[in-house]
Amino acid sequence: MREDNEQQKRWDKAYGGSEDFFGKLPSELAVNALGALRKNNAKRMLELGCGQGRDTWFFAHNGLEVVALDYSESGICQMRKKAQDLGAKVTVRVHDARQPLPFPDDYFDAIYSHMFFTMEFSEDEVAAILCDCLRVLRPGGLNIYSVRNDHDAQYGKFEPRGKDMWENPLGFVVHFFTEEKVRRLAGGYELVSIREFEDPSPPMPKKLYEVVLRKPE
Ligand SMILES: C[S@@+](CC[C@H](N)C(=O)[O-])C[C@H]1O[C@@H](n2cnc3c(N)ncnc32)[C@H](O)[C@@H]1O
Repeated sequence: MREDNEQQKRWDKAYGGSEDFFGKLPSELAVNALGALRKNNAKRMLELGCGQGRDTWFFAHNGLEVVALDYSESGICQMRKKAQDLGAKVTVRVHDARQPLPFPDDYFDAIYSHMFFTMEFSEDEVAAILCDCLRVLRPGGLNIYSVRNDHDAQYGKFEPRGKDMWENPLGFVVHFFTEEKVRRLAGGYELVSIREFEDPSPPMPKKLYEVVLRKPE
């Protein structure tokens, strides 16, 4: 039986050992999402699993008010300090996403997460988080997320850790998604698009699905 906070400790250690674990640049997902968010008139955004904030800063610098959550205290501490230094419009909070989101209904114009749902969550846990996201999202708001997919070079490799999950040599448990699973998990939302893309950021290249969901009006 794995300790509940074992993965959390790994992220703390990874972020403690490197200031830019995933590199300094914003992800391609974030760069693409910005256009869609602006078109949808998004002002206040929730980011789940923000890590060290490479995408958070990108959105904040582009005028969005971002509330960023992660369960890694070391990542969030680094973010808090940077937000103070930059005077950026970013609120950061340590939060385990398996707990309900601490926000009222219809509060955010958009929700964003890069490689967050692809962590050690069962499909039922992903469904529950997506359902809570639907609650805090305003009608017409977008939920844009990415997950590693079954075309990724690490799919099915290394230590099995539950359904569609494997632990890679760095000790991180990754949940891989088929297109069918993404469609199954879109219940309650309008599924706007699913697109495959590659993320070359360290520590290894990854194949992902970009998923765009909309809360019905
Ligand atoms: C693959 S990293 C991606 C980080 C960031 N989105 C990026 O692309 O730079 C996944 C992040 O999800 C966070 N995470 C994993 N499980 C979580 C949970 N149950 N609650 C909150 N954050 C979690 C980890 O701490 C980590 O920062």
